Amino acid sequence: MAKHALVIPDMHVGFRRATNGNLTPLHDESALKAALKMARQIRPSEVVMLGDNLDLAAWSSKFVPTPDLRETTQASLECLRDFLVALRKAVGPKCRLTYLEGNHEARIGKLLLVVAGEAYGLSPAGSDVPALSVPGLLRLADKDLRINYLGPYGATYWLWGKVECTHGDLIRKRGGHTVGARLVEHPNHQTFGHIHRCELAGRTLHGASGPHTVWAMSPGTLARLDGVVPAGTAHVDWQQGLGLITLDGEDIAMFLIPITNGKAMLPGGLKPMMDLDDGIDDEKVVTKLAEPEPKDADRFRELQWVETLPQVWEQRHVPVQQDDAILGINLTDVLS
Ligand SMILES: [Fe+2]
Ligand SMILES: [Fe+2]
Repeated sequence: MAKHALVIPDMHVGFRRATNGNLTPLHDESALKAALKMARQIRPSEVVMLGDNLDLAAWSSKFVPTPDLRETTQASLECLRDFLVALRKAVGPKCRLTYLEGNHEARIGKLLLVVAGEAYGLSPAGSDVPALSVPGLLRLADKDLRINYLGPYGATYWLWGKVECTHGDLIRKRGGHTVGARLVEHPNHQTFGHIHRCELAGRTLHGASGPHTVWAMSPGTLARLDGVVPAGTAHVDWQQGLGLITLDGEDIAMFLIPITNGKAMLPGGLKPMMDLDDGIDDEKVVTKLAEPEPKDADRFRELQWVETLPQVWEQRHVPVQQDDAILGINLTDVLS
């Protein structure tokens, strides 16, 4: 039976604070919600978060943060933790969740070493999780999350022992070029973040056992694209998206899921997102839709049930509920 992994790239959860105290998010709330909905639909056995999930602009030792980026860390932590709790609920207790450290998470340790080196790595008595660290501040090991944090920045997670997952540090100027460059340096299946672009490329190697194709995927970002996120330019060449990696026997397939205007795009076109809390037994629906398919149907067929479900609902006249109620998370409330 095929296994699926959902790949969530750079969320950059963070805020700018106006002089009246109002918070403007750096992350795209609708993209985060789309990620939660996709997690519910795919029901992955693994979720890999590629890092830079927190922006932590005020912790940068690279540039001087402007006043509007100060006093936003607590709100960022609360917001990301709420998202992670909703993600755990969406994928269920058996799903393995992995959080890779990105260069933005690494900002905390780097700044501590400069201004308060004695605090670096300091853990509460009886604990081995540093207090001023991302896993410590988000309580990632707690029962309601059980998320594996892999650091330091540069750490690699080998998904199913076959796919190299890392935050990454290589950036090529033009779209599509970084995956190609990565495949030269790392001729293996891989997914990485950091570049905030949706890119997918393959490379076919010819060895003793014949041709073998490996894939590289960058799923993009869940950050806003309108210049709010601190970057070198307001006109960022970024794209929003998610990644889906499927293991079928020994074979790996990778799919990019672009997010456009807060909606995740699946093969076949833009579809409205759905509520799976409507009393329909999802497993039965999947089975019913899969019945006419031959056993050797291609992998895109496995995704077809996501496409077809809205039609099933229309036929049954099942009303679609409000999105926020479905997910048990209201990011607007989190911000207020
Ligand atoms: Fe990064
Ligand atoms: Fe990033």
